[in-house]
Amino acid sequence: MKNDLRNDIEEIILTEEQIQKRIEELGAEINAAYADKPEELIMVGVLRGGFIFMADLARQIKRQVTFDFIDVSSYGTGTESSGSVRIIKDLEEDIKGKHVLIVEDIIDTGLTLKKVIEMLKTREPASIKVCTLLDKPARRTEKHITSDFNGFEIPDKFVVGYGLDYAEKYRNLPFIGVLKPEVYA
Ligand code: XMP
Ligand code: MG
Repeated sequence: MKNDLRNDIEEIILTEEQIQKRIEELGAEINAAYADKPEELIMVGVLRGGFIFMADLARQIKRQVTFDFIDVSSYGTGTESSGSVRIIKDLEEDIKGKHVLIVEDIIDTGLTLKKVIEMLKTREPASIKVCTLLDKPARRTEKHITSDFNGFEIPDKFVVGYGLDYAEKYRNLPFIGVLKPEVYA
């Protein structure tokens, strides 16, 4: 197809099948981790990149769980972090006494998760854990920020698809890939 966005992809890093299989495994890990916890579990999706991952992961959770979203910005529309993290949209729900599972597309430098965790901790949740689809450990500046449940470690490449964007585009690709260099030109 002439305007198929797949024409802009140079390399597929993770296929749709690999992602879906890993999400089933992550779901099982999460189900086991919260099996004997009577308090409420709330999954907090980090917008916008986490929305597709959150939707697929949610359907693997077997216990009662509620959902909320937080919107954070650090990247603008480019491929490099601006370093300062802004909370654009806060949670709607009170998380006091609840188990919070933050669901994020990727940990890169760790600055975004550091900011979100620091902010949510002050609200006295029962616990805070992090689930990420991707981890780029090579670029971590916040060494103590880690993911409790991570899908895949990836090399230091800017990736798009499955929720991740370049200039707000390519989020709807069902796989994760790298763009052709001419797309950035
Ligand atoms: P930090 O550096 O705060 O970054 O851990 C987390 C946020 O940065 C975005 N990010 C990416 N977005 N492709 C993207 O589309 C990438 O390769 C990439 N690396 C980082 C992402 O929004 C994440 O929430
Ligand atoms: Mg994000």
